[in-house]
Amino acid sequence: MAKQKTVYFCSECGHESSKWMGQCPACKQWNTFVEEKAAPATRKGGAKAGKTSASPMNISQITIQEEERISTGIRELDRVLGGGIVTGSLSLVGGDPGIGKSTLLLQVCRNMANAGRKVLYISGEESMQQIKMRAERIGTFEQEMLLFCETDLEEISNVILKTKPEFVVLDSIQTMYSEELTSAAGSVSQVREVTSRMMRIAKENDIAIFIVGHVTKEGVVAGPRTLEHMVDTVLYFEGEREAAYRILRGVKNRFGSTNEIGVFEMCGNGLMEVENPSKTMLSGRPLDASGSVVVCSMEGTRPILIEIQALVSPTSFQMPRRTAVGIDYNRVNLLMAVLEKRVGYQLGGCDAYVNLAGGMRLGEPAIDLGIIMAIASSYKNTALPEDTIIFGEVGLVGEVRAVSGGEARIKEAQKLGFKRCILPQANVEALKSRPRIQLMGVSNIREALDYI
Ligand code: TYD
Ligand code: MG
Repeated sequence: MAKQKTVYFCSECGHESSKWMGQCPACKQWNTFVEEKAAPATRKGGAKAGKTSASPMNISQITIQEEERISTGIRELDRVLGGGIVTGSLSLVGGDPGIGKSTLLLQVCRNMANAGRKVLYISGEESMQQIKMRAERIGTFEQEMLLFCETDLEEISNVILKTKPEFVVLDSIQTMYSEELTSAAGSVSQVREVTSRMMRIAKENDIAIFIVGHVTKEGVVAGPRTLEHMVDTVLYFEGEREAAYRILRGVKNRFGSTNEIGVFEMCGNGLMEVENPSKTMLSGRPLDASGSVVVCSMEGTRPILIEIQALVSPTSFQMPRRTAVGIDYNRVNLLMAVLEKRVGYQLGGCDAYVNLAGGMRLGEPAIDLGIIMAIASSYKNTALPEDTIIFGEVGLVGEVRAVSGGEARIKEAQKLGFKRCILPQANVEALKSRPRIQLMGVSNIREALDYI
């Protein structure tokens, strides 16, 4: 009889330890360790040791088959996945509760069912009636789709194997549990067990499975981060619950590129694709206003134009206030320091608020020059011509460095009717063809600020 052992897991990254620790040595998060009873070593149904008949193969003898992809009927999602769902793959869709994960996957189920595929939607969160009510909101199901409300992993496995669907949604991983383990549903070991079982079912039966996982900041429920390394594809659904726009971001993809994004809008009848995010993000933009500039950021292979707003005004506090929404706070502070030191702006006595419009979040260095120009424009109280877009990375010396994808960025600006572009001089020199748009190459921020 194996003795019950207690182990501790980090609920953020899944790091295992025999004793409790305040800080996780792997991901450096504090207070994330949770106690769990380890399963006895002799549990049945666990991963089997490799078959003895298996032998290694020469790489030249391996033939590659083009992986088969199924369209989800949602172009934004297909692009993030790299061209559709790969059969037999396991994907994870993470995001805050209420962001729209169930809605998105139900829409995928509807599209696939309508295309004549066999689809099974398993929910541990909602009743059949609730799902039906949601389904009525998002549109008609012309074909049959199987629904199953259950949380027991054994039952779920049996139903999948019995019905043999092509596509399965498991909503959500935190509600599913295996009776073989003693810990509660949502704990690290349960979440891992459910995921590894689903992985096996997906691979052995060539079924594409999507798992929904809520991202939790802390607490006993294991975050989906613990299973990122176990699945083929990881998508995160982000955005403010209050804002209408939702961004679907690929962070891991064994069958395609990552960092592609899909943009959606939550409407009364489900999630709508935003086909031209630049146009949407720029709608309602104030014209001829100081502190407002348009930048171009590459999200994966796609250039997106977005407005940056800055408000700089003399402070009436002891300590000037600074905030950054949608952009890294430290980056804004750094760029303000560059403006002070290299151009001589007196920003020490000013409050500064920098916002990205539309609830987007950007981390690309190519928006540096845009942030600088927005701050300078507000500080000088002078507007930049509204038909100008800006991109370029800024270094600590105030130099403007080249960024990748210059051509694509210029093309997108041209498409949306922009007439001028402030960009790194090095990018101008690297251009192969002359665009119709007026290019203003700069090699340091002083040159750029001359345009204000
Ligand atoms: P949901 O998909 O349940 O989120 P998750 O599965 O990520 O927890 O959707 C959450 C919100 O979306 C909910 O508050 C209601 C809203 N919603 C709409 O605005 N329109 C719709 O058509 C639907 C189905 C939901
Ligand atoms: Mg849900």
